[in-house]
Amino acid sequence: MTTMLGLQLTGRRVLVVGGGPVAARRVQSLLADAAQVEVVAPQLCEVLLDLHRWGLIVWRPREVVEPDLDGAWLVHTATGDRATDEAVVAWAAARQTFCVDAGDGSAGSARTPATTQQGDVLVGVVSTGSPDPRRTLALREAIATQLREGRVDLRRRRAHTGRVVLVGGGPGDIGLLTLAGRRALAEADVVVTDRLGPVAVLDELAPGVEIIDVGKTPGHHPVPQHEIGRILVEQAQRGRVVVRLKGGDPFVYGRGGEEVLACREADVAVEVIPGVSSAFAAPAAAGIPLTHRGTVGAVHVMNGHDGWSSAALTGLRDGSCTVVVLMGVSALATLATEALDAGADPATPVALVEEGTLPGQRVTRARLDDVVDVAASAGVRAPAVIVLGAVAAAGLLEPDHGDAAHTPASSDPTAPGTVTMAL
Ligand SMILES: C[S@@+](CC[C@H](N)C(=O)[O-])C[C@H]1O[C@@H](n2cnc3c(N)ncnc32)[C@H](O)[C@@H]1O
Repeated sequence: MTTMLGLQLTGRRVLVVGGGPVAARRVQSLLADAAQVEVVAPQLCEVLLDLHRWGLIVWRPREVVEPDLDGAWLVHTATGDRATDEAVVAWAAARQTFCVDAGDGSAGSARTPATTQQGDVLVGVVSTGSPDPRRTLALREAIATQLREGRVDLRRRRAHTGRVVLVGGGPGDIGLLTLAGRRALAEADVVVTDRLGPVAVLDELAPGVEIIDVGKTPGHHPVPQHEIGRILVEQAQRGRVVVRLKGGDPFVYGRGGEEVLACREADVAVEVIPGVSSAFAAPAAAGIPLTHRGTVGAVHVMNGHDGWSSAALTGLRDGSCTVVVLMGVSALATLATEALDAGADPATPVALVEEGTLPGQRVTRARLDDVVDVAASAGVRAPAVIVLGAVAAAGLLEPDHGDAAHTPASSDPTAPGTVTMAL
């Protein structure tokens, strides 16, 4: 029979017999548990020598003798020599001290579990029958994968301190939600969401997780920003883990900064998990490289509501950077007119990527001087990312694009007849 226990080894003396790589692995995990480690071995491998040089372990450079076990809470023997390991196991048994025998897992009085940690939960796997380390590791890996991917309901059942986690959910495709974001969702008691981002993940939440929709549609703001901040704070103060699921990255035109401030002002713990921004993901999913060797080496991301900055206009005019516009569909006419008035090349390629990474993804291409008409006749709608510059030209990544990598912004950007392309 085997009983699994969570040992508290902090500051407790653990004796490791043996100086090779197996002993070194044991020592490293014991040090991670803050144990006071003493190693007995005539020689040490490089790893253990370093730990000794750094003063992290005590080393007795000789063969083990029985009194070495005095005062140890736990013993590990990993000498590679059966007779020595067996002697250590016997000495430990005589002292009623648990002993792990690395050479024969069934010989000692303790076994080392294969472990995986998720937050403050440690999961261990040991075999109760004859040891089968590969099988144990395979099971540990299966459990670790479930935890890593946020597939286990990790909500706390006991009263706990509330906190807020801002999760950048990416542009919409559930596959672009990070593992860290999924893990946060697995711990959430409540998810505050809006219309952008990987909303499909909401269907995967455990039963009982509350969903608060503060969704905004363009030109219509059902829940004002200060109210969203208030909801986050109030939910956390009720002792709940609150995930604020946001589209893209929380800090790229996501008002994540304001939500962090609202939490900090109320003394509520808040954490930010970065996300894949639509500014980069939507063009990439549409096959548009925002930088391309020999074409352009810089990117300027701007918000269509705020209009052109002189830096963005200069970059667009001289072709030195790609301009990416978020929230730009309703301001497209103004943006195009202002750019042309400021001297931008009328032939500058423009691509509008709607619903990037989602099933409805569509790319509409035009030139700066006809993009307003082309977008109107194609019925381009938000959410869309607008890309302006040489990289927005159709066929840039086609092998037969010729000298495309060196196409200046002023050459004809659109393939004949190509206006709208559904991917
Ligand atoms: C309020 S901003 C939020 C941006 C977000 N924080 C990010 O990093 O992607 C909303 C704008 O992001 C862009 N956007 C978000 N998701 C998109 C998607 N899947 N496809 C195209 N554009 C998207 C649109 O320009 C939309 O108007």
